[in-house]
Amino acid sequence: MEGHRIDRRLMKDAADFQKRHLIFEYHNVSHVLDALGSGVMYGRMEGIGEQEEKLLHTSLLLHEIGMIYGREGHEEMSACVAAFVLPHYCYSESEIREVCRVIRSSQDPANPGDLLEKLFLDADIDNLGRPDFWIRAESVRKEEHAKQGLDWLLHLKGLLSNHKYYTGSAGRLRSAGLKKNLHALDDVIEEYQRLYVFYS
Ligand SMILES: [Fe+2]
Repeated sequence: MEGHRIDRRLMKDAADFQKRHLIFEYHNVSHVLDALGSGVMYGRMEGIGEQEEKLLHTSLLLHEIGMIYGREGHEEMSACVAAFVLPHYCYSESEIREVCRVIRSSQDPANPGDLLEKLFLDADIDNLGRPDFWIRAESVRKEEHAKQGLDWLLHLKGLLSNHKYYTGSAGRLRSAGLKKNLHALDDVIEEYQRLYVFYS
């Protein structure tokens, strides 16, 4: 990922490790690098400084690493892993505290406090307003072993309907795409229900 502010050795080690061990349908190194790319972009759009960029990018690089130990509470586990490994890459104590705080901000329910947490959350699920939303959603469905069908479509509709952007940059860039995906989803749901009535 070009343009990130992460120590080169950490970037390589974390990417290599997650490529081998974070091997879920959705939560894998592709998602991590995708979120990092969005973080780089939104950080620049919001004009944050180099130090904030370093904290944001590092948080995104490590935010799913705890999934290796299980889905439940993986945000806290990711923060623990970050606290354990970052001293080996010369991060200061205060930098590590900040990275852990930002990673923890993805715990449910999301309630971001400062701009770093807002950028982190917008970058993490940037795909909701992009054309590749459909491919990513299918990966999530497979990972969660959810059945295809109306229930899953309604779940996606709830996700998109309730989504809000925390930064002006993400809102300006993705709101139209989010609406487009929601309209397409409504069409699919309508068609699905029509066929269901027809065949039942
Ligand atoms: Fe994520």
